Amino acid sequence: MKKYTIAMLVGSTRTGSINQKLARAIEATAPDTLQFIPVTMEDMPWYNGDLESNRPASVNAFTDAIRKCDAVCMVTPEYNRSIPGVLKNAIDWGSKPPAQNIWKDKVIAMTGTSPGGIGTAIGQQHLRQILAIQHAIVMPGETYITFKSPDMIDDAGHVSDDSVREFIAAFGDRLAKLVALMATA
Ligand code: FNR
Repeated sequence: MKKYTIAMLVGSTRTGSINQKLARAIEATAPDTLQFIPVTMEDMPWYNGDLESNRPASVNAFTDAIRKCDAVCMVTPEYNRSIPGVLKNAIDWGSKPPAQNIWKDKVIAMTGTSPGGIGTAIGQQHLRQILAIQHAIVMPGETYITFKSPDMIDDAGHVSDDSVREFIAAFGDRLAKLVALMATA
């Protein structure tokens, strides 16, 4: 069975992060054809063009990790109707220099969760806009998840609500189909 590697980027690393829980649930419910690789973003400095002549090791490790993977899964909270700075910073580093843009032609799926009723919808729309200029292949469809109760997903990714588990599994299914399709393109 052909396996596809998926870089898992989560826009929050705080203890108890509901987006980290969602990431575990995606990994737990996705088809066996997907192998998720956690990739960290928070050890990179803020983007600064002065560093371009000698890119920090943390930046090179990040861009190498993304290049090696067949696709990327971004799971992120919404911060002030946009995305967290840590994710934006990672996207910025990856987008430069333009000839080595790591996002170009990369399959990217996005989702996120928040306790609020619109479950990261506006943040994801903003993320979609940012990725459009990167020429990324962004998975169609919208997966917004309201984290209705503190025990909806546990730290291991077990989802207590059947309909939420099915919704999350459907996201993984669509990513598996898209990455397989693009591998033949
Ligand atoms: C938030 N939160 C938030 N929620 C939302 O639905 N829309 C928003 O615009 C924002 N803005 C926002 C800004 C900042 C700076 C913080 C810290 C939080 C609330 C957010 O959804 C909530 O804290 C989540 O629990 C964050 O995700 P993690 O860290 O639990 O994964």
